[in-house]
Amino acid sequence: MFFYKKKYSIEPNGIITRKSYSNIALIKYWGKHNNKIQIPLNSSISYTLGSKVYTETRLIYHIRKKKNISIRVFLSGKEKKSFVPKILEFFHRISFYCSYLKHFNFIIETYNSFPHSSGIASSASSMSALSLCIMEIEKKLGYSLKKDFFFRKASFLARLGSGSACRSIYPGLVVWGYHQSIKGSNNLYAIRYPYKIHPIFTKIVDTILIIDENPKKILSSKGHQLMNKHPYAKERFKYANKNMDRLISILKIGDFQEFGELIEHEALNLHAMIMTSIPYFLCMKPNTIHVIHNVWDFRIQSKKNIYFTLDAGANIHLLYPIKEKKSILKWIYSDLFFYSKKIIESYCFNN
Ligand code: DP6
Repeated sequence: MFFYKKKYSIEPNGIITRKSYSNIALIKYWGKHNNKIQIPLNSSISYTLGSKVYTETRLIYHIRKKKNISIRVFLSGKEKKSFVPKILEFFHRISFYCSYLKHFNFIIETYNSFPHSSGIASSASSMSALSLCIMEIEKKLGYSLKKDFFFRKASFLARLGSGSACRSIYPGLVVWGYHQSIKGSNNLYAIRYPYKIHPIFTKIVDTILIIDENPKKILSSKGHQLMNKHPYAKERFKYANKNMDRLISILKIGDFQEFGELIEHEALNLHAMIMTSIPYFLCMKPNTIHVIHNVWDFRIQSKKNIYFTLDAGANIHLLYPIKEKKSILKWIYSDLFFYSKKIIESYCFNN
C-alpha cells in the first residue's frame, strides 16, 4: 500500500525541518511480536503533548551517485556517531517503502527540548519528526500525496523506527494497535481517536517531574522483548484491551477520578511487568515513590483530581484538569520540587 515505483526529480540539495511532540500513553504499549516489524501485542492510546516537549529535526540531503544510504547525526550541534546504527537500521527497514532514500547522503540535525533517554519518550518525538521529514522528501519528489496519506504513511514509517513514535505524528488522543471497539484502529499505523470526548478531556495539564536524567537502565526495545516469555504476559494483554474499553467510556462520560485511577493502575501494571520479567528491572527511584505517596496523600486531603502516570523510567507525569491548574501547580512547586531534578510544564490537548 505504501510502495510504488516511479522516476523522480528533485533539486540535488535541500533542507527540511519538522517538529514533533512527545506523547504520554494512558494505556501502555508494552510487548510486541518477535518479528522485527513492530507489531504491538496490545492496543495503546496516548495524548500527544503540547509545549516544551518536542524534537525538532533538520534533514539535510544531497543527491549521491553511489546507491548506499549514508548518514551523519547531530544532537544539539554535537555529532553522535553512536546514534547512527539505530537510524541506519531504521532507514534499511523503511527502504522498501521509500526506495528513493538510497540516492541521498543525509545529515540529520536534531534538537530535543528535554533530556534524551530519560523516560520522556525522545525516540517517539525524534522518529516521528524524522519520518515527517522523509515524507516531505517524498512530496518533493513529485508524488501527489493526499494529506491523509501523507500522515498515515509518516505514522507507518515512524512505527518502524519506534512503536510509540507512530502516535506522535498526530496531535491529541491517538490510538495504535487493533482494538475491536475502535473503528479504524490497526497495528500498522496510528489514528486519531475517532470518538467524541467530554470537554474536561479536551485540555488537561501534564506536569512532568524529571527524577532522573540519566539514560534508562532498561531500553524499551529490550523490555518489549522480555514480554515474549513473560509469565504474566497473556493476562497483561487481555487487561490492557479491557482497560481500553473502560477508557472509551470514561472519555465520553468525563469522569476524571475514574480516568485517573485507570491511568495510575496502567502505569503500575507496566512497572509490575518490568519488575517481574526475566531478567527483572526496577525503573522507579526512591524519589519516584516519594512523589507517588505525596500525590496520594495530597489527593485525600485536598480532594483534588491529580493523578500520575509513568513511562518505562523514573520520571513522573502528573495529569490534572486545566481548571485546577493554579492551585495544583503551586502545590507541586512547594511540595514536590525537592524530589525532582527539573519540572516541565506541558499540556494534553484534544480538539
Ligand atoms: C512504556 O515505543 O519506546 O513508553 O517500539 O521498541 O521503540 P520501541 O519501544 P517504545 O516503547 C514505549 C513504551 C512505553 C509505553 C507507551 O508509550 O505506550
